[in-house]
Amino acid sequence: MVRNVASVFRDLDPEDFYLLSGLEHGMRFSEWVAREKITEFARLDGDEVDYRLDRCEDRGLIERKTIQYQGFRLTFEGYDALALRTFTERDTVEGFGAPLGVGKESDVYEVRSYKPLALKFHREGYTNFREVQKEREYTADNEHISWFYTARKAAEREYEALETVYPEVRVPRPIDHNRHAVVMEKLPGVELGKARLEDAQVVGVLDLILEEMAAAYRTGYVHADMSEYNVAVGSEGVTMFDWPQAVSTDHENAPELLERDVENLVGYFERKYPGQVGDVDVLALSRALREDDFETVRSFG
Ligand SMILES: Nc1ncnc2c1ncn2[C@@H]1O[C@H](COP(=O)(O)OP(=O)(O)O)[C@@H](O)[C@H]1O
Ligand SMILES: [Mg+2]
Repeated sequence: MVRNVASVFRDLDPEDFYLLSGLEHGMRFSEWVAREKITEFARLDGDEVDYRLDRCEDRGLIERKTIQYQGFRLTFEGYDALALRTFTERDTVEGFGAPLGVGKESDVYEVRSYKPLALKFHREGYTNFREVQKEREYTADNEHISWFYTARKAAEREYEALETVYPEVRVPRPIDHNRHAVVMEKLPGVELGKARLEDAQVVGVLDLILEEMAAAYRTGYVHADMSEYNVAVGSEGVTMFDWPQAVSTDHENAPELLERDVENLVGYFERKYPGQVGDVDVLALSRALREDDFETVRSFG
């Protein structure tokens, strides 16, 4: 996580951003960008580059390593700074606030804008960098691309899914995206996993979530990571968030993934609120969601 990103960010000069952008460019070609290449990519002269490299390294935005040559690369914090810079240039973001959440694969912060919004930095390539490298068939010199590339792709996929399903599905309204970051409205309410529902609310809340899953299916998506961690509940209803892994209903595994989502969700309710939900026929229920023929979870018990 960025240590005090707000103060680091405020302190950066335009030349620091030239340097960071130059490094970002260079990292398309090699993991560690040679010092001479940076001069070329960043369009700064030699002394300026050395000065900026030191400044950015002190602030944790880049790291250096001596291999056969002295190489530099962006850290995730450096990549964050570039995305944040773009959002401020576009007037999407006016200021940086407190952390809202740390997920399996993201850091989420409050940001100032026309109203408080949420900024999600994707970290996918970072948290499972090793596994990703093993799975992919990149050539040796291209393996490095994976952490930036994976996080950026995840942000793109999440934004696209949010834009498609909003407003039919209750999701945080998408506002903007850049690189590995997505800006969206803040979640109303708290995570389902942290909420303690009254007995009388349990079935009703489960029904609401299932209705959103049916709505998502109608708009062409299966969430595919449904759990008590990715749903918020509040006085205004339920909100489904965390969409980077969502798959199209055209995908051959869509029915199975929907089934797994239903199973995860119903399983959670059965564990946390025993005796409230009954014995639900998950298969029949997910078929009903697909066919948009679902009224209440009770009829599948
Ligand atoms: N729009 C939002 N508003 C407020 N908090 C959010 C928002 N999106 C995510 N969070 C918080 O950040 C955490 C991680 O976000 P999430 O989208 O679930 O990513 P991950 O893939 O890392 O699980 C969530 O559990 C939640 O607490
Ligand atoms: Mg999550």
